[in-house]
Amino acid sequence: MRIEAEAVAPANIAVVKYWGKRNKQLNLPLNDSLSITLESLQVRSKVTFDENLNHDEIFVNGERLSDYETREYAGRVLEIIRKLYGKRVFARIESTSNFPSSAGLASSAAGIAALTFASNAALNLGLDDKELSKIARVGSGSACRSMFGGFVRWNKGESDEGDDSFCEQVFGPDHWPNLVDVIGIFKEEKKKVSSRSGMESSVASSSLLKCRLRFVEETFDDIIKAIRDRDVNSFFHLTMRHSNSMHAIILDSWPSMSYLNDKSFVVMDWVHEFGKAAYTFDAGPNPHILVLEENVQEVVNFLEGLGAKVIVSKIGKGPSLVRSET
Ligand code: PMV
Repeated sequence: MRIEAEAVAPANIAVVKYWGKRNKQLNLPLNDSLSITLESLQVRSKVTFDENLNHDEIFVNGERLSDYETREYAGRVLEIIRKLYGKRVFARIESTSNFPSSAGLASSAAGIAALTFASNAALNLGLDDKELSKIARVGSGSACRSMFGGFVRWNKGESDEGDDSFCEQVFGPDHWPNLVDVIGIFKEEKKKVSSRSGMESSVASSSLLKCRLRFVEETFDDIIKAIRDRDVNSFFHLTMRHSNSMHAIILDSWPSMSYLNDKSFVVMDWVHEFGKAAYTFDAGPNPHILVLEENVQEVVNFLEGLGAKVIVSKIGKGPSLVRSET
C-alpha cells in the first residue's frame, strides 16, 4: 500500500503570544493566544504513507531531518494519525517553504499544519479543521493556529487530555483587507534556544510569568474588540504590549535569555516614533511590522535601510489540498 497527498499551509504571527505550557507532551498552553494567518509565507508538504517504510522520514527543503527532530515534532502528529487510521504505516514527508526555514518565521508551524492536513486527506480520516488543530498542536503548539485563515484564537482549554485546547477562526481573511505584515529578515540562522526549552525555563523560573498571564486575560477581549472595530490605534498598542510582555518573561527567565538583538531594538524605537504601525517578535530577532497598506512603503524603506530582506504579507486563508492519490 502507498497513499499520497500534498497540502499547502500558511505560517501565522501571534499578536497575543503563547509562551509557557502546562503539559509538555500535549503542548497545552498556560494562556489563550491570537494570531494572524500570513498569505505570503507558505509550506507545501507531500506525505506518502508507505508499507515498505519502517520509520518516518522527513525532508525539509531537500535536507533530511535528524531522527530526534522527526520523532519530536512531525512524528508526534504521525503517531496520532496512525492510531486514528488503525494501522501502523510509516510516512515519508517532503516539505518546501517559500521562505527561510530557520529564521524564526514559523516554518515548523506551517509545515506541521500542512502535514496534518495532508495526512487527513491521504488516509480519508474525515476530521474537521477544529479536530486537525488539536492534532497539529501536539506537533508544535503554534501550528494549531495555522489550521485556519484570518484571525485565529487558540483556546488553552482546561482539561488534562487536551480535547478542549483547539483553534477557531475569530474573523475571516477579508475582515481587515488593508492590514499587512511587513517582515524584516536580519538573521537566517537557527536560534540558540528552541522555544520548547525556552518556555520550560520560563515556567520554571520567571517570577513575572503570573503577571503576564493576568495581563493576557485582562486584555484579550480588548484586542478582539480592536480587531472587530478595525481600531488601528488600540490594535497597534495592544500588539506591541503583548510582544514586549512575552520578551520580558524571556529576559526574566534564569538562566536569562533574549531572542532579540540590537537591530530589533532599533526597529522598536523607530516604530514608536513612526506612530502608524506595530511591531511584534516571535522567538527570534526578526520583526513583523503590522501596518496599513497606505504606509507600507515607509516601513519597507526603513527595514531595507537597516539591511533586512523584506517580505510583505496580507492576511491569508487556511491550508488547502494540492492533490490526493491512492
Ligand atoms: O510552536 P512552538 O511550540 O514552538 O511555540 C512558539 C511560540 C511563539 O512563536 C514564540 C509565540 C506564538 O504564540 O507563536
